[in-house]
Amino acid sequence: MSNYILIIGACGQIGTELTLALREKHGNDHVIASDIREGGESLMNSGPFEILDATDYAAIEDIVMHYEISEVYLMAAMLSATAEKFPMRAWNLNMNSLFNILNLAKEKKIEKVFWPSSIAVFGPNTPKENTPQNTIMEPSTVYGISKQSGERWCEYYFNKFNVDVRSIRYPGLISWKTMPGGGTTDYAVEIYHKALSEGSYTCFLKEDTALPMMFMDDAIQATLQIMEADIGNVKVRSSYNLAAMSFTPKQMAKSIQAHIPTFKISYQPDFRQVIADSWPSSIDDSLAKKDWEWQSRFDLEKTTKEMLENLSS
Ligand SMILES: NC(=O)c1ccc[n+]([C@@H]2O[C@H](COP(=O)([O-])OP(=O)(O)OC[C@H]3O[C@@H](n4cnc5c(N)ncnc54)[C@H](O)[C@@H]3O)[C@@H](O)[C@H]2O)c1
Repeated sequence: MSNYILIIGACGQIGTELTLALREKHGNDHVIASDIREGGESLMNSGPFEILDATDYAAIEDIVMHYEISEVYLMAAMLSATAEKFPMRAWNLNMNSLFNILNLAKEKKIEKVFWPSSIAVFGPNTPKENTPQNTIMEPSTVYGISKQSGERWCEYYFNKFNVDVRSIRYPGLISWKTMPGGGTTDYAVEIYHKALSEGSYTCFLKEDTALPMMFMDDAIQATLQIMEADIGNVKVRSSYNLAAMSFTPKQMAKSIQAHIPTFKISYQPDFRQVIADSWPSSIDDSLAKKDWEWQSRFDLEKTTKEMLENLSS
């Protein structure tokens, strides 16, 4: 089989950087980006692009056959905050897209699948600090329910049909190339844009809400690492806990003030506070470290430096 790669939902916050990283690694022509909309310039100009709806099985199958795709990264989804507004649309997109890809793999039309899960699989009854890999999981959001169900189905397809599906529970992701797409941790990106453009930011979470977060370079590194790991080293087939740092909006503001002393933050919690309150504050990712040698590189200080430097250049 060939080693052509398809990314579905390639124009989003993670898909954009993932596509560029995979093109760098495998060659531009070997990585086909797809989405229901066109993406940024660097993505559109660096290799093949197809308009593709993740809920349309026949259309995905056509592209898989046409390009002789062997690996699919399924990044299309409706995120936590938006999903609370459109529950059935979120459920349909998040579940049907996953079934389409798992079934293609079951039929041996593709060899390997990456599907991202989230810290949203945990819920208000989960231990909040250093949340273990295996623990109480009672998600209280539409998004979390869809991710937890997705995890169960991934494990089921691995056990029953030998589908090589690999997954990570991403924490909130911080990046400067693309804006976030409607999640509860979006504040941690918006804050840098506003710090530079207005010198102040009104945060939609309370000052002391600690959440697990990660700089995008770490998330991309983890994604490449788990997909390249020997098949026998990927022992968790639902989804791996993954962690880098954990902080509150107040601590984040302080890290910005170290560079912009006049920066001011105020707080106006909205419906996203309830979602954030149901999630862990920090995550135990020792299994990812043990099984495929995961190690994060970016803490809050390093992230703030990267964000401010790149957004102001
Ligand atoms: N960004 C985060 O902090 C975070 C954290 C945890 C998990 N995740 C997960 O990672 C994945 C990617 O997240 P993201 O932040 O890049 O999301 P995003 O919203 O930025 O991007 C999603 C992309 O999917 C596309 N899309 C929507 N509907 C589609 C459809 N029917 N067919 C094809 N494409 C469609 C959108 O146009 C968008 O470009 C999602 O599964 C998300 O749940 C993200």
